[in-house]
Amino acid sequence: MNDLFLRALHCCNDSRPPVWLMRQAGRHLASYRALRSRYSFLEMCHEPDLISQVTLLPIKAYQMDAAILFSDILVIPEAMGVGLHFEETKGPLIERPIQTAQDIDQLPSAEEIFKLNYVAQGIRCVKPHLNVPLIGFCGAPFTVASYLIEGKSSRNLKKTKQWLFQDPESFHRLLSKIADWSIAYLHLQIEAGVQAIQIFDSWANYLGFDQFKEFSLAYLQKILLGIQKTHIPSILFCRGSSVFAPQLATLNPAGIGIDWNCQLITMRQQVPASIALQGNLDPDLLYAPLSKIEQEVNRLLDQMTGDKGFIFNLGHGVLPDVSEDAVRTLVNCIKRREPCLATSSF
Ligand code: CP3
Repeated sequence: MNDLFLRALHCCNDSRPPVWLMRQAGRHLASYRALRSRYSFLEMCHEPDLISQVTLLPIKAYQMDAAILFSDILVIPEAMGVGLHFEETKGPLIERPIQTAQDIDQLPSAEEIFKLNYVAQGIRCVKPHLNVPLIGFCGAPFTVASYLIEGKSSRNLKKTKQWLFQDPESFHRLLSKIADWSIAYLHLQIEAGVQAIQIFDSWANYLGFDQFKEFSLAYLQKILLGIQKTHIPSILFCRGSSVFAPQLATLNPAGIGIDWNCQLITMRQQVPASIALQGNLDPDLLYAPLSKIEQEVNRLLDQMTGDKGFIFNLGHGVLPDVSEDAVRTLVNCIKRREPCLATSSF
């Protein structure tokens, strides 16, 4: 078992940093596109054997140090019954977006979490094939709420922000309901065998400093407290973490995922050494010539040398049109640092 990732997440890694990439199990892989030509995205999310196969693709292609469950943050809205589709070019579309406070109260309670049992089956299916830790995940309540309200990917989250300022009370009820589902969903994943979890707040960067505290942080805290007894380490990732990381650190998560707008080494001065830092190369760097990728990867590795809680990643997900050579160059550059001495203990 390669447990570099868990060691780094516990801030006690004496070997080279572990590497995995957000969206590693996605369209940039030819093996993913081949499977995807035979099934719709949601079919792939629903079928335990396909969940397992896709989760394994980046492990086989690059020997990443951690696997992330193949699924999507929008399976919770789907289980809530709002009607989820993925259009080839438009991304997610929700048939019945939330439009009134009454709609919020009509969303089913988290007792219906059993609708996501297929995810637990996928986890059980993939676990025997893995020699690296498996990361489970969910979306942060603010980001999931934005999809429920906008009904699709949005350029400015206008309806969401209008709702938040015009009727904060019902907006809080929505966030609270999503947080309850998220807690139940993470318990389901943990019982099935994930060894760490990450919460994605992809659109937190749309929030002002105080709004972040009220509408995002409070619910991240609710989720962390809700799964605290499991002792499974959590990573909080948000776009905007170069600004919000000190606020995230007050929740004392195992790790924080940092976007690419700051220097990670500078961020370390604001985040205690007991919290792992994950990140933070610009995802567009993977479009650069391979020699430039190596140069930038080495620069980040040099800056973070000796940091026992550093997990190598991008500042957001791998983009669908980067080359596998680019990703392989990045991974190999990290793996060339020091031999991996770590063996099991977690
Ligand atoms: O990271 C991984 O490889 C594991 C799987 C994973 C997916 N989505 C698969 C996926 C994870 C962790 C996610 C998280 C997710 N989903 C987020 C948060 C992280 C982030 O990137 O900000 C968000 C906002 C979503 C919602 C979502 N899912 C959108 C907006 C889209 C369409 C745009 C896009 O990137 O394709 C998806 C679809 C999606 N989720 C795909 C994959 C592999 C592509 C679907 C396809 O094959 O057409």
